[in-house]
Amino acid sequence: MKILFVCTGNICRSPMAEGILRNKLTLAGLGDETDSCGFESFHTGDHPDKRAHTVSRKYGIDISAHVARLFRKQDFDNFDRIYVMDSSHYYNVSRMARSEDDMKKVDYLLNLLYPLSDMPVEDPWYHDIQAFERTYLQLDAACDILVEELKSYNKDKL
Ligand code: 4NP
Repeated sequence: MKILFVCTGNICRSPMAEGILRNKLTLAGLGDETDSCGFESFHTGDHPDKRAHTVSRKYGIDISAHVARLFRKQDFDNFDRIYVMDSSHYYNVSRMARSEDDMKKVDYLLNLLYPLSDMPVEDPWYHDIQAFERTYLQLDAACDILVEELKSYNKDKL
């Protein structure tokens, strides 16, 4: 499976989620792939926010190589699942969807933890390092569930 995470600037939440998931996939020996992107161009081409990098590094995850990019229509073709952080991203992705099949791939990331709740992942950008820490832990818990789902999906495929 190919998993895409989407946030606003692609410098905080989605690159942290990507780094967390990639590490869990490696530890689980899974070959699934992941990437992240955003919807605002302010930070396109930038590496992740220093605070996102600092918190991730504390947990052994290196996200420094990531380069921010925008969501594009081809992402619907290139990814099997598209996880958004909040309703603004859900709305923006839905505006670019070409079909119902495109939208079947899209869900709120925290619905993995709290099904059908459509809860947002807190945007830490305007806050302090503690907010980044809280966001990191939310992302980590959601990615734990995702890896378990991918494990059973891959097993069923064999
Ligand atoms: P992210 O956080 O969407 O988690 O990467 C943000 C980064 C930048 C901005 C907003 C949110 N911004 O407005 O520049």
